[in-house]
Amino acid sequence: MTKPILPGEVAAAVINPVAYGQWEPLHEQLAWARANAPLAVAENPNHDPFWLVTRHADIMAISRDPQRFANGIRPTVLTDRDGEALARAATPNNDGHLIRSLVQMDAPDHMKYRLLTQSWFMPKNLKIVEERIREIARDTVDHMLEAGGECDFARDVAAHYPLRVIMDILGVPPEDEPRMLMLTQQLFGPTDPELNRSREAITSAEQAIAMLNYVIADFENYFGALTADRRANPREDIATVIANAMVGGEQIPDRELAGYYMIIATAGHDTTSASTAGAMMELAKNPALFERFRSAESDKAGLIEEAIRWTTPVQHFMRSAKEDVEIGGQTIHAGDWLMLNYVSGNRDEEVFTDPFAFDPDRVKNQQIAFGFGAHVCLGQHLARMEMRILMEELLPRLKSLELAGEPARVESVFVGGLKRLPLHFRTH
Ligand code: HEM
Repeated sequence: MTKPILPGEVAAAVINPVAYGQWEPLHEQLAWARANAPLAVAENPNHDPFWLVTRHADIMAISRDPQRFANGIRPTVLTDRDGEALARAATPNNDGHLIRSLVQMDAPDHMKYRLLTQSWFMPKNLKIVEERIREIARDTVDHMLEAGGECDFARDVAAHYPLRVIMDILGVPPEDEPRMLMLTQQLFGPTDPELNRSREAITSAEQAIAMLNYVIADFENYFGALTADRRANPREDIATVIANAMVGGEQIPDRELAGYYMIIATAGHDTTSASTAGAMMELAKNPALFERFRSAESDKAGLIEEAIRWTTPVQHFMRSAKEDVEIGGQTIHAGDWLMLNYVSGNRDEEVFTDPFAFDPDRVKNQQIAFGFGAHVCLGQHLARMEMRILMEELLPRLKSLELAGEPARVESVFVGGLKRLPLHFRTH
């Protein structure tokens, strides 16, 4: 059977950071794919072909089958041909993973490593840190309100709060947070000239890899020192758990150790910043919603779940087929590469009524922004809790909320969201 091939403009859009920055036109292309070619191959210059997976059901089916759809074989985030070749040349065993974290692992390593910290991120344990998170939220809100009736919520508020929470839980002191913020933005958004290290457009794979290697080396130096400290002076933080963890009777090797810190330190904030800023944007655009949710008694759960669906901060992850598989009426062959496009899955008309409406009252919101299956987001309960606490602390203190200028999105195919959200507000 021949493979269905996507029209060039759809294939080009799903790999183009600028398209993710513009957002609306990208949604048109994805809606076309869901209706006409939900599982079809994207062919682009200098990129290996990959299956673009746009339907919620197919994303779920692939995610729930890690035995046949692996993370460790090919890059887990879209990379062009030169980039993958360079990354392979730059990594041990030529595996091409500049970082080896939970995301890049398959069985049996994946579960062994995941279980080291999983209980930390479960709702029961998170209750222990709830009061601490509330203090950080209050402090964040005080800062925002003290600064007067206007702010760039994405830059001045949303970018800092989840960072402070995750750093607190991890055990990184507040004075090191700006360095962590800069490194994460460089790791996740290196294609956006406003965020990357050289503040210039990245035009070659060599440039991209060189920049990522700088960023990774910075992280490794930092966490190397933290590990030495926590082995000598254990504390009640995740750094202590990771630094002293044993896998197969031995301490974690250096590469996996650095990868572990990096995934916790980075996955936990730009993502939650994006969903938090997205929620505020919708409240600023819709006075009735704002009135409803600023009441201290209002239940924020539906607002938060819908903001996570609406923003879909992690826009894709890649998988690689380990064997031939029939799925969605197509035959995927061993070695094929697939893009799970969560942005599309979260607007799937077959799962969500009126998917392009922001509706906090969805009865059973099956948003797939946290992925699914063995790799499902480790921090999903933390992300929801952080957002709820910030909304509880912030909204009742506001009397009005409006947009004060044009919002702008990050230009990145991987972690996306608002980089600018000018807001005007009044307090009591
Ligand atoms: C994995 C999204 C917040 C830590 C993932 C995955 C997605 C995701 C899509 C991959 C799932 C898959 O492959 O099936 C998000 C979103 C967030 C968020 C949208 C915020 C709204 C957080 C937070 C943490 C975190 C706060 C804090 C530690 C991780 C880790 C993984 C992960 C460690 C890798 C899990 C594994 O491979 O086993 N996340 N995440 N994330 N996330 Fe999150």
